Amino acid sequence: MEFLPERNSEVDSWKEVIFVYTSALKEIGTKLEILNDEFQHVHSYNPIEHIKSRLKTSESIVKKLKKNGYESTIENMVRYINDIAGIRVICSFTSDIYRIAEMLGAQNDIRVLSVKDYIKNPKPSGYKSYHMIVTVPIFLTDRILDVKVEIQIRTVAMDFWASLEHKIHYKFEGNAPDFIREELVECAKMVSELDARMLSLNDEIQKFARDFEESYK
Ligand code: GTP
Ligand code: MG
Repeated sequence: MEFLPERNSEVDSWKEVIFVYTSALKEIGTKLEILNDEFQHVHSYNPIEHIKSRLKTSESIVKKLKKNGYESTIENMVRYINDIAGIRVICSFTSDIYRIAEMLGAQNDIRVLSVKDYIKNPKPSGYKSYHMIVTVPIFLTDRILDVKVEIQIRTVAMDFWASLEHKIHYKFEGNAPDFIREELVECAKMVSELDARMLSLNDEIQKFARDFEESYK
């Protein structure tokens, strides 16, 4: 059942929205933690460095509705804003990103509504990250709601780049001078190179560790 708040007062609907999306963040957060813990158990290795989650502020929801030409109603926000509940997963290596995305997407209570792979196709700004919009069922006393969550999965290096770019974007209100934009694109290339080198270094280390173990059998 798609989540639509019941038509009580606006205040009650707003409380319901917050409650439902907070629950969705908890569900997805727990799923990710379980995947990470099991990975640690089976492969002695944590694919996830850390997880951050947030609810979009009411100001920012209203701004986005306005930008997209929708009236500020609770119904519109639930229908048209996909990132009210947002969760960011920071991984060590690019390969972990695809592993996590695949494992989560394959869970049969999760519905993947859309995927944007800005790692394979970075934005012109240089932005890289793997985005998924999913729904997760929330079991309430008398009904089950499918609630949307935006998941952004990226490496530590991609996250470092994105947070700096975000600050610059804000500081210049989206109109950063050319030399700064060009420098950011250069840095984004370095991020990709660093990620690739760290991944192959890690592969070497794992191989080395395996060979070492073999030699003692
Ligand atoms: P929004 O309206 O910004 O949510 O974008 P969208 O609906 O077109 O979706 P998209 O997947 O492109 O972006 C979703 C989110 O990814 C944004 O809200 C940001 O958190 C992040 N993001 C996208 N592009 C950039 C970028 O160029 N720089 C940074 N720092 N973050 C970005
Ligand atoms: Mg957003």
